[in-house]
Amino acid sequence: MGKLVRLALLGCGTVGSEVVRLLHEQAADLAARVGAPIEIAGVAVRRPNRARGDLPVDPALFTTDALGLVKRDDVDVVVEVVGGIEPARTWLVEALRSGKSAVTANKALLAEDGGTLHDAAAEGGADLFYEASVAGAIPLLRPLRDSLHGDSITRVTGIVNGTTNFILSAMDATGAGFTEALEEATALGYAEADPTADVEGFDAAAKAAILASLAFHTRVGADDVHREGITEVSAADMASAKAMGCTIKLLCIAERGPGADGAESVSVRVHPAMIPRSHPLASVGDAFNAVFVEAVAAGQLMFYGRGAGGAPTASAVLGDIVAVARNRLAGVHTASESAYADLPIRPMGEAVTRYHISLDVADRAGVLAAVAGVFARHDVSIATVRQSGRDADASLVIVTHRAPDAALAATVEELRGLDVVRSIASVLRVEGGQ
Ligand code: NDP
Ligand code: HSE
Repeated sequence: MGKLVRLALLGCGTVGSEVVRLLHEQAADLAARVGAPIEIAGVAVRRPNRARGDLPVDPALFTTDALGLVKRDDVDVVVEVVGGIEPARTWLVEALRSGKSAVTANKALLAEDGGTLHDAAAEGGADLFYEASVAGAIPLLRPLRDSLHGDSITRVTGIVNGTTNFILSAMDATGAGFTEALEEATALGYAEADPTADVEGFDAAAKAAILASLAFHTRVGADDVHREGITEVSAADMASAKAMGCTIKLLCIAERGPGADGAESVSVRVHPAMIPRSHPLASVGDAFNAVFVEAVAAGQLMFYGRGAGGAPTASAVLGDIVAVARNRLAGVHTASESAYADLPIRPMGEAVTRYHISLDVADRAGVLAAVAGVFARHDVSIATVRQSGRDADASLVIVTHRAPDAALAATVEELRGLDVVRSIASVLRVEGGQ
């Protein structure tokens, strides 16, 4: 019997079942590419007796004892596609510390406690690959981790959540409100039964943390990411964006540069933002993902494709399996982390961008001056003002020049206390223009 690479597959749901299918359908090619056949040693699931259609895997391989499977001597590589923090962390740490390579799609765990996994990989001299954890099928993490390692990345801007991009694209196309668009996303199977992680930005924030860590050679966790979801984005916001030649996207933005004190630092944020229709990310529709990377020597790069779904995500998992299997046969491993820069995280208040503020005010002499005075007091410069009247009230839409987030927050706070301001309908950041 020749060489063999044996996998412990943890999870056989949307992604895991497609991993099984691809391993089966491409067995000969994969063996040729790796230099040895890849075999499934066992599949850990929660419900081993669940009907799994015509999945090409021996039912006898199913087990509920994931940890026991990970510890088996005949397992070389552990593939974790279960998700969540525990017990996935325990399984992966056990595998890595004992020198078994690991492939995971678990963005939540990587963002919550990636350091523990990286430390375990270093301790065990094992590979930790996680291409599928951000932007599904799109080859993105290895370009950041390998191809761009000779360059300095300054900014990563992306649409990294398919569900919210579908919802915002639908709102843009049809004028629908958030709730209506979410219902459509659910009916079409894009949004999960509990869409909180997607619509509140948790999923995108986890991905932003992973991207920032790789791009800037520093550890960034989910808690370091400023996060706002899309639940407050209204049909009126979208209409207002359209009137400005913009659309609204849930963006993840990671930047490296000097903070207010001049020291090099990192800022990572996820929030809805208006972007001009001419921006490359504006045309990313449906449930697609796209990430725009800016580097000193390379300039601007854009990565685009399917960010979710069983087969696209399994494609990225398979790519990682091939890479770690090859390394195993060669008796080498790749350092999974480069965190030497060890940069501080810049507070959100220091993030500088433009803003779109929509407010309802009394329509009488001196109101515009009073409102403008508040902006001036906080050193936020107004770029445009649009007013439309309604009886004794008026709707004001103000777009600012670039200003720090803290200055804008103080402006909004003071506006709320102004007796001529009836309400502040929305505050949205404007990205990607001059
Ligand atoms: P699913 O919910 O479809 O599948 C989860 C699998 O894990 C199921 O097979 C389930 O078993 C098994 N499982 C759950 N709990 C346990 C447990 N305690 N012990 C053993 N097995 C368990 O998830 P997905 O396939 O959608 O996602 C998997 C991972 O991939 C997650 O980390 C997710 O974030 C990530 N990911 C998913 C994408 C997608 O489009 N779905 C895209 C990118 C990343 P059973 O089958 O018996 O229920
Ligand atoms: N829920 C995620 C999304 C799945 O909508 O993008 C892919 O990570």
